[in-house]
Amino acid sequence: MTASSMDDLVSLAKRRGFIFQSSDIYGGLQGVYDYGPLGVELKNNLKAAWWRAMVYDRDDIEGLDAAILTNPMTLRHSGHEATFTDPLVDCRACKSRWRADHLEGNTCPGCGSNDLTEPRPFNLMFKTQVGPVQDGGSFAYLRPETAQAIFTNFKNVVDSTSPKLPFGIAQIGKAFRNEITPRNFIFRVREFEQMELEFFVKAGEDEAWHRTWVDLRLDWWEQQGVPKDQLELYHVPADELAHYSKATVDVMYRFPHGLEELEGIANRTDFDLGSHTKNQDDFELQAKVEPNSDSNAKLAMQDLEAKAWHVPFVIEPSAGVDRGVLAVMNEAYRVEELENGNTRTVMSFKPHLAPIKVAILPLKRNHEGIVTKAKEIKKNLMRLGVGRIFYEDTGNIGKGYRRHDEVGTPLCVTVDFQTIEEDDTVTVRHRDSMAQQRVAVSELPAFVEEFMRS
Ligand code: GAP
Repeated sequence: MTASSMDDLVSLAKRRGFIFQSSDIYGGLQGVYDYGPLGVELKNNLKAAWWRAMVYDRDDIEGLDAAILTNPMTLRHSGHEATFTDPLVDCRACKSRWRADHLEGNTCPGCGSNDLTEPRPFNLMFKTQVGPVQDGGSFAYLRPETAQAIFTNFKNVVDSTSPKLPFGIAQIGKAFRNEITPRNFIFRVREFEQMELEFFVKAGEDEAWHRTWVDLRLDWWEQQGVPKDQLELYHVPADELAHYSKATVDVMYRFPHGLEELEGIANRTDFDLGSHTKNQDDFELQAKVEPNSDSNAKLAMQDLEAKAWHVPFVIEPSAGVDRGVLAVMNEAYRVEELENGNTRTVMSFKPHLAPIKVAILPLKRNHEGIVTKAKEIKKNLMRLGVGRIFYEDTGNIGKGYRRHDEVGTPLCVTVDFQTIEEDDTVTVRHRDSMAQQRVAVSELPAFVEEFMRS
């Protein structure tokens, strides 16, 4: 079974060092979390899988890692200053604040009062002072989405890589939103990470590419252990679309707290490139330019045959890393009844996502021959470059297996007397089936490499 409640996941995440409340020793900071020793591995592995699928497996997508601090002009012309808001209400009775569209009826979830103000727009962007002057005149925004820096770097990437349409620019990085009510663990937070692709296509080919990217993204989530039957597509109705979108399909996942958005796949048309562009000598482009744009960049592609410039349309699959981690953990979580009447908790992560790939357990922690052999095996497996290989010499193999089941280590390798005295084989114990087999030390790297590909 997957996690019965969010509490199961929160508890395991803290107990085993996946995710902690940020600034915990000072009472925490609402809507902000830290990733612990195993969480950082899991998160990095998920991001690496996305990067591999987007950038390495394809030849039509380039990567980018842009700054978080963003020139306010970017977010003015993107429309975020004016429209990136949620409806805020105040409770006059208990002075708490809520997101109007998350309320049930007109009732304050804090005190039950119905004495609420009318909703008013609350801008979600964080502002910060730039430089030593404190007069508020020089500020930047912490980016609310990674996408804008892809648009503002469009010309840089096109000039330096000479791509042809269709092509994409991919980025993974932090985004910040001053959410009115952060909640549900790492689902809705104020500091999070996004994995965003802006895939530029010819106008007219946008709708077909939109459908293609929805299919590709569903396949990708399945490869991460989030099956399609746990996902639903939500075709966002016109009155709910973001200001830049012609059509958006949300990939909804059955989180422990309900069916909610895991990823949004939007058809942003030529809205962003168009509104960051100004002073063009082409009338078609000028028509798309916002009258107040201060950008001089020509964010367009030249069609050499037709000798014309045109602004590409863009399809944007935008996934939350933290929501991805939550979905992957929820899918991996199982509690199994054992034959002896005990239970075991297992995180059955896909091998490529597991924080630790192989645990090396010496049967005796003080036995020089066994310890030396176990360390040598670790060194050899590290050479594979498949991820973290963990040497653990607590000397209690049963407990080691349980602990590694709970953190999702797919293979444990036990080095014992048979290894050093008889046949140079080790016991390989599989997390999911608990099956054990003897494998020759000389064949172990090939065995692990093959297993990790499965
Ligand atoms: N560039 C498009 C964009 O930002 P979005 O639907 O607002 O679109 C994309 O965000 C994804 O980012 C969401 O599907 C979600 O996974 C993640 N996300 C958005 N706000 C979040 C928050 N407050 N906490 C955690 N993840 C969030």
